[in-house]
Amino acid sequence: MRTLIPATAAAGAAAFGYAALIERNWFALRRYEVPVLAPGSEPFRLLHISDAHLTPGRKRLMAWIRSLDDLDPHLVVNTGDSIAHTDSVRCFLDAAEPLLDRPGVFVLGSNDLFAPEPFNPARYLLGPSSRHRIRKGPDLPWEKLRDDMAAAGWLDLDNQRGRLTAGGLDIALAGVHDSHINKDRYEQVAGQAEPTADLRIGVMHSPEPRLLDQFAADGYELLLAGHTHGGQLCLPFYGTLVTNCGIDRERASGLHRHPAGGQAWLHVSAGLGTSPWAPARFACRPEASLLTLVPRDSG
Ligand SMILES: [Fe+2]
Repeated sequence: MRTLIPATAAAGAAAFGYAALIERNWFALRRYEVPVLAPGSEPFRLLHISDAHLTPGRKRLMAWIRSLDDLDPHLVVNTGDSIAHTDSVRCFLDAAEPLLDRPGVFVLGSNDLFAPEPFNPARYLLGPSSRHRIRKGPDLPWEKLRDDMAAAGWLDLDNQRGRLTAGGLDIALAGVHDSHINKDRYEQVAGQAEPTADLRIGVMHSPEPRLLDQFAADGYELLLAGHTHGGQLCLPFYGTLVTNCGIDRERASGLHRHPAGGQAWLHVSAGLGTSPWAPARFACRPEASLLTLVPRDSG
């Protein structure tokens, strides 16, 4: 016992040091092929970013986001939680500057509105968080973030539909604000997705199953979400312990078919960052995803 306790403490300290200092800055680019285009279509590159939770000191993360422009995406989708500090809007806009020159869309997440607060990291493992709901009102400059992204040309999909042309495709989109803080209003975008478009994409921050079902039933073929952080603190060979919303553990990140209401594909980003009060990732590297959309199997 005399040697076991110090050894366990040392192993714990080493694991935390790795999670906070190494893995949190070990950014991964995930690549997926998604067969959602009409036969004969050219491949289409969609960059999905999410959950940057930027604070002014995160220079490595900012540089990595900036470098994603080298992927030459046709469309950028940001599923929210971009900032974590009152001074972070400028940081995010600087990091995303080259991407903002490209066609893009976004929704906001709860952390774009509410500054992070200290919390017991163990709470992260206990179930969906609800700490934002007890506050009086937003305390981060989410309107500036929204307005500056929109001024650069990105479409705001918070409880709105949109349509754009990118990479030669006519794309119909719909999105909802964050269901985690009850700001989603699907009824404002409900109805059949534009049948004449080349592609239909549904966008949300939190992959709540009832929203996924609604988007899929309305004909959206590709659903994009973030929020889960892929669990953020995972167990090797087991995966995430929690999803922080209603989705199952198996789909806490990555590309999957959505089982209900049509033929939709779902991609959940494990996100680029962490709350400043939980600055560690374990067995769940921070990520962005390049989805290469290709023709459906015509057979
Ligand atoms: Fe987040």
